[in-house]
Amino acid sequence: MIIDYNDLNGVFHLNNGTFSYILKVTEDKQLVVLYYGKAVNINNYFEEILAMSQCGFSLQHPSGLMYEKLQLAYGTFGKYALKEEAFLIKDDQGVMIHDFEYFDFKILNNSTLIIRLKEKTRPLWIHLKYRLIHDMSALVKSVAFVNETNEPYEIASAMSASYGLNARMNQVMTFNGTWIKEFSTVQNELSRGRLSFTNLSGVSTHTYQPFLALSNAQTTDDIGEVFGFALIYSGNFTMTIDKDIFNQTTVQLGISAFNFNWSLEPNHTFMTPEVVSVYSDKGFNGMTQTFHRYFLNEVMGFHQGNQYSQVLLNTWEAFYFDIDETRLIEFGKRAKKLGVELLVIDDGWFASRSDDTSGLGAWQLDCEKFPNGIQAIKDQTGLEIGLWIEPEMTNSKNGTVIGPGENLTPSRNQYVLDFTNDEVVDDVFEKVSSILKAHPISFIKWDANRPISEPCSKTIVHQGELYHRYMLGVYKLAQKIKDAFPHITIESCSAGGGRANAGMLPFAVSTWLSDNTDACERIRMQQSAAMFLPLRAIGSHVTAVPNHQMLRETSLKMRGDVAFFGTFGYELDFLKLTPAEEKEVVRQIDFFKKHRKLIQSGDYYRLLGNLKETEGEYAHMVVSGDKNEALVGVYQILCKPNWEGMHVLLRGLNENTFYCVGEKTYSGCYLMNIGINLRQIFTGVQKVDRMHQGRFGYGDFTSEVFYIKKKD
Ligand code: GLA
Repeated sequence: MIIDYNDLNGVFHLNNGTFSYILKVTEDKQLVVLYYGKAVNINNYFEEILAMSQCGFSLQHPSGLMYEKLQLAYGTFGKYALKEEAFLIKDDQGVMIHDFEYFDFKILNNSTLIIRLKEKTRPLWIHLKYRLIHDMSALVKSVAFVNETNEPYEIASAMSASYGLNARMNQVMTFNGTWIKEFSTVQNELSRGRLSFTNLSGVSTHTYQPFLALSNAQTTDDIGEVFGFALIYSGNFTMTIDKDIFNQTTVQLGISAFNFNWSLEPNHTFMTPEVVSVYSDKGFNGMTQTFHRYFLNEVMGFHQGNQYSQVLLNTWEAFYFDIDETRLIEFGKRAKKLGVELLVIDDGWFASRSDDTSGLGAWQLDCEKFPNGIQAIKDQTGLEIGLWIEPEMTNSKNGTVIGPGENLTPSRNQYVLDFTNDEVVDDVFEKVSSILKAHPISFIKWDANRPISEPCSKTIVHQGELYHRYMLGVYKLAQKIKDAFPHITIESCSAGGGRANAGMLPFAVSTWLSDNTDACERIRMQQSAAMFLPLRAIGSHVTAVPNHQMLRETSLKMRGDVAFFGTFGYELDFLKLTPAEEKEVVRQIDFFKKHRKLIQSGDYYRLLGNLKETEGEYAHMVVSGDKNEALVGVYQILCKPNWEGMHVLLRGLNENTFYCVGEKTYSGCYLMNIGINLRQIFTGVQKVDRMHQGRFGYGDFTSEVFYIKKKD
């Protein structure tokens, strides 16, 4: 790991062998980005890059540099840049403060660089933090604004980071969506101008995820350069990509500046959320694997003992609000027999909750529905128990809710509690912790089912702080629950996939991806989400058919084959399974338990799918770190007449190792270059076994999962 500063030319070179990030302090004491990309071993010739910016008609600075032709590491409007830059700060008269200069730096633990910028005339500071991770092409950035003056200042925008990238990057990938239609992949070609993606729902976002990837037209899943960016934040955010007249591409991510005004009081600090960027020269799969490793190890605390998911059964799609103790005991006993480990009691367990019009907020067990408490369910079923909660919400608008008074707009018959107010957060913590103390709970599903519509808080002075203070309240509550109940695993959810991003990962090790549980929709969404979210974090359940959102019928096998590549669980009525379905469920649960370590800690590769024109064919795989085993999932949405078949080329194996695939043995070289070859089996000449309808060629919605193991 190297964080090098060269006194002679004012160059910082961050290089851990997987990428380089090079910054330079100019004669005008401005910090500019010279390079971000593949690791390079150069520490000189940077004057040539600067010299390229020395012509043109521009503001005059002592160095003669034209800053329009350079990329400031973290610049503001005026003096050096006459465009929207990474931050905007004003004094109490509304006058913009332009003149920040490089001051000094320090290096912590040989892995974190903090560069301080100081306002020329007063002790107003910006600390730029850059953190490198050993052996990983991930760079973590954040910014702190520190006010050591006697005056307050107003921060009108503060991105978490600004990246200068080279002109070769001309494609941008983002995810767009809405309820039950999350994670559509959008690929835009970058031309001159500014492209911006913003979330303004306050609580969460289905519309865009705080993630984007920049690549060029030649980049594929396996080849070429990609830069991926993920903001560790679930509140309002903006991501912009600006390609200017000189072809310089600037990427910025951070809290949305819309309706944001932070009052930075004397002796106070404002910290932005973190953003992690990943450089890959091995296509999108290379980027994905780094994000997975980074989130698992550095954010989700895998090294601290958080491990593989338990096979869960969730009550929502099985019963919706119609739950009680007798029913759940019977349901749970059957589930236990089939191999389930965790019963998650979804919405409907608390007092006054028989539909979504009442009950949110009190968090007391409904003693009529559950006369003997949760303990009785745990004892009688032998399952671990999880509970659904929606701590940020209430059905009553009389409480301390966000909004301008009486005339609030309801959504799902509920309102958002004012989490900008510490007392509200503490009160919710007391209520939630008393339920968690009173009952044997080892898992919570934390939901948030509506956006903030009319942003107005009665408890804060500066309304421009509302959205961010709200998220700080959410994170405060999550941290308090995590500290007080370290044995409890949290899953985050927000009306399906509204928080399916990295923002809750420090607290919640998994996220519910979508209320759409149809296998065909799910394979698309899961592949997209896995672009940056580890499979351990992707909530995936097998549900009933006809599917409740799409009315589509897919085989139980296909539903399982899709759900394996995530946390894996069920959300259907186990009491209604036929004997043949029970047999299949037992097979699936055994299979998942055997392979969950491989699935959730292996290297993930997309083989066919979202990035390519595949006419509804998807394939992906996970490979163990030692390359001794792998699991491959292949899916076809619609059957095609006289189909040419599929050559699924595997990745990540050892060329010269022999692997068993079912009864047969192949070399890694064969599997990666000639592949698994799937042909059509005509339904006209084969007897169709409904249970195994998923096999290739038996009509629409087919799938297969192959386990591959090194030959002994
Ligand atoms: C949201 C979630 C569902 C379920 C319901 C309960 O819609 O996405 O999974 O928990 O709330 O009300």
